[in-house]
Amino acid sequence: MGKQDIFSRTVAHYLAPIKDYLDDPAVTEVMINHADEIYIEREGVIERIQSRFADEEAYEAAVNNILQFTNQTLSEDNPLIDARLPDGSRVHVVKEPCSRHGTAVSIRKFAKSMLDIDWLVELGALTPQANEYLKIMVLAEKNLLVAGGTSTGKTSLLNALSSYIPPGSRIVVIEDSAELQLQQEHILSMETKPPDKYGRGAVGIRELFRSSLRLRPDRIIIGEVRGGEALDMIQAMTSGQGGSMGTLHANHPVDALNRLETMALMSEIELPLHALRAQISSAIDVLVQMNRFVGGRRLVTHIAEVDTLGDDGRYQIRDVFNMQPVISENGEKTMQLTWSGERSSLAGKLRPNEENLVSKWTREIFGTED
Ligand SMILES: Nc1ncnc2c1ncn2[C@@H]1O[C@H](COP(=O)(O)OP(=O)(O)OP(=O)(O)O)[C@@H](O)[C@H]1O
Ligand SMILES: [Mg+2]
Repeated sequence: MGKQDIFSRTVAHYLAPIKDYLDDPAVTEVMINHADEIYIEREGVIERIQSRFADEEAYEAAVNNILQFTNQTLSEDNPLIDARLPDGSRVHVVKEPCSRHGTAVSIRKFAKSMLDIDWLVELGALTPQANEYLKIMVLAEKNLLVAGGTSTGKTSLLNALSSYIPPGSRIVVIEDSAELQLQQEHILSMETKPPDKYGRGAVGIRELFRSSLRLRPDRIIIGEVRGGEALDMIQAMTSGQGGSMGTLHANHPVDALNRLETMALMSEIELPLHALRAQISSAIDVLVQMNRFVGGRRLVTHIAEVDTLGDDGRYQIRDVFNMQPVISENGEKTMQLTWSGERSSLAGKLRPNEENLVSKWTREIFGTED
């Protein structure tokens, strides 16, 4: 039996009290505060469940079993650990003294269906028109960031969009804890490394990014941009590293650029603000904004293109898609991601293989017809 099979079996055994919830596709998160205090998120609503672990020992055993496969041990010196279940679900464990009342565990379930762009379209997370637009932008090697708040579906959308990267490309994926599951064959996955118990030997996203540039990537995917690597990424993108993608925490497209700016300023290299903004403007081509709505729906609310920095030193962002009210067949008014009327900066500049993808949905956006 392989290591993964053993893991699957032992996890199923140790996590028996919450197994039904792990198996229920409507449940997106299982949160264990104590052996006898467990919450789930189902369709966007958090509720406490009756299930419990038999006692503290059974709970500790379950946690240790998950961690056994991460080569990390939970201790007072190492109280925060990211791990994964065999099905790809992400687990975050916090131990005392960082969690003040015993070990806390949160399991972010990984819905494989969310990785499929057609399914996201079916769910209404984006429209067929926006999907086609994004497909063309990815193929045209535009640099794209998916922005959103916590748990708005950024990683899922990034993963789904990655399926548009042509099969022949060499893709380097950089993550804190491996979540992305790309379908292409030629992939090099890199994962950060926490420090040892003496605080030595940590390897962060920034170091990995710098290393990735020497690995002859066609495309670089950063699971989440959150620190000084933003500057390296921006500079690589401005100097021709096209077709790269990542996610970042931000609540609005403008906010995303401001966040990038703040993160770039966290690196030790000093750059005048105007120069930095000019670089950010030229590096980032497309911002896709995600939001979470009542009932747990996660929708794209904006797709914006970033133009060159304005003379006044301000970012110039154009919504190509945003939410607009539409009247449905039964007369109900709903908000839907709609083309704003703005053309893409690529209008009239598509290469033949990209132009072939343009259908009735995006003809006006890419301006291949008057
Ligand atoms: N379009 C969608 N509609 C409904 N549920 C979704 C959608 N996209 C993702 N989900 C579900 O929402 C949860 C969060 O998704 P995901 O991890 O992609 O979000 P995130 O924004 O990357 O979160 P984080 O802020 O933790 O990085 C997952 O359980 C996922 O399966
Ligand atoms: Mg994420």
